Amino acid sequence: MLQHVLFIGFSAIYYSQSAANPQRRPHLFASLALQEAEGSRTVAHIRSAKATEIPVWLDEQMQRHISDEVRHAQIFTKAVEREGYFIDLDGEAAQQSLSSVGEASMRRYHQVDDLAVAPLPDLLASVLLAEELGVRGFRCILKALPDQLTATRAAIESVLQDEERHVRYLSDALHYFRSTAVVDAYRRDIESKMFNDLGKVLDFMTKPATERPSLVKPGQKPELSLV
Ligand SMILES: [Fe+2]
Ligand SMILES: [Fe+2]
Repeated sequence: MLQHVLFIGFSAIYYSQSAANPQRRPHLFASLALQEAEGSRTVAHIRSAKATEIPVWLDEQMQRHISDEVRHAQIFTKAVEREGYFIDLDGEAAQQSLSSVGEASMRRYHQVDDLAVAPLPDLLASVLLAEELGVRGFRCILKALPDQLTATRAAIESVLQDEERHVRYLSDALHYFRSTAVVDAYRRDIESKMFNDLGKVLDFMTKPATERPSLVKPGQKPELSLV
């Protein structure tokens, strides 16, 4: 319980500080653009690898989920550009970020070379946890975002609505597969792993933005396409 509270508290501080600070905000939006694009690929991979086990109603939701995440990646890419930056996809930070989110991290977590080997409810449970974190993160960002960023705010509000729908259908799916216990076990496991890494998290949060590898460069690059 204490771990849960600390975990939620630290991520809230991280999202709020980054959204409020004009030096950190472009980096935050860039990291979200990469996560959303990777999230879309991960759900698409699960959907095709497990096609025979997925009922029609769930398949429809997953298909919609995949296109939602593509749209979210575009929204955050635009948000970075509105701040006067572009995402440096070739940089060290982008490469690091891509290996720490989405399918690569899920394969490591489930200790499999191919996600198709892991049971479908386990994979859905991991996606659900990521979606729950997204909902909490976007709520913090919206609270801390300066009022004058009206276009970015409206876009993130629409992202939040999608993420809330993702949480609902994935929760339904885990009930359908009678696997809600898997989610609780993963939640505890992931939070305790984060708790063990608290030193690293604190180090990251307190390091000035200029000393961290950045995902963005100043300037516009309108031809950039993540998806
Ligand atoms: Fe998303
Ligand atoms: Fe989502």
